[in-house]
Amino acid sequence: MTDVSLTLALEHRRTCREFDGRALPLPVVHRLLWAAQGITGAMGERTAPSAHALHPLRLVLVVGAVEGLESGVYVADPQTGRLTMTVHRDVRGELQAAALDDQPWIGLAPFMLTLCADFVAPARDFADQPPYGQRGERYVYIEAGAAAQNVQLQAVSEGLGCVLVAGFKDEATANLLDLNTPLAPVLHLCLGWPQIPDGTVDLFSG
Ligand SMILES: Cc1cc2nc3c(=O)[nH]c(=O)nc-3n(C[C@H](O)[C@H](O)[C@H](O)COP(=O)(O)O)c2cc1C
Repeated sequence: MTDVSLTLALEHRRTCREFDGRALPLPVVHRLLWAAQGITGAMGERTAPSAHALHPLRLVLVVGAVEGLESGVYVADPQTGRLTMTVHRDVRGELQAAALDDQPWIGLAPFMLTLCADFVAPARDFADQPPYGQRGERYVYIEAGAAAQNVQLQAVSEGLGCVLVAGFKDEATANLLDLNTPLAPVLHLCLGWPQIPDGTVDLFSG
């Protein structure tokens, strides 16, 4: 891991859509998950804030090439760090087909973290606040944005490239990830070692 300051990580965060295909080590994946929703306090506080501490986000991993993990879909438990395999096949190609527009980086990223959310619990919890029926949903998107930025900054510090993808067909994506109501996908973070064009220097490698 490269030790970079937060300021440097912010400065170097850029969308990357080309990956060189090398597998990610498992500890790198665990650090990305921790950045998204790691437990940092005795009361279950996490790395990202949550309205009323409801923590509606769920971490779904789409594994193509991660050392020590079979290709497939996993759900992460932020409390224990345990990964549970829910789909026993590589679904990246199908997820790419479920994207809006042509987005080959979905099929090529060795690892994808999909932030999913329980939209029902926040909708119920904030039902008495205007705009009625919408505030809970709004909070879910804000929380997903905060968690996604955490992951993107962690990715920079790991020397990884990342693209946030929110342009996909919701229902097809949910089906491929084996999500059940009330969970729905919010965004993918496609991650991998960046393909460095010839003649350029990678600040964070080595
Ligand atoms: C809400 C949101 C949705 C996005 N959806 C996609 C997407 O579906 N596909 C994609 O390739 N990039 C997507 N992006 C990445 C943007 O295209 C990218 O952030 C933008 O071009 C700015 O470039 P930068 O991230 O390098 O600053 C999305 C970004 C955000 C914030």
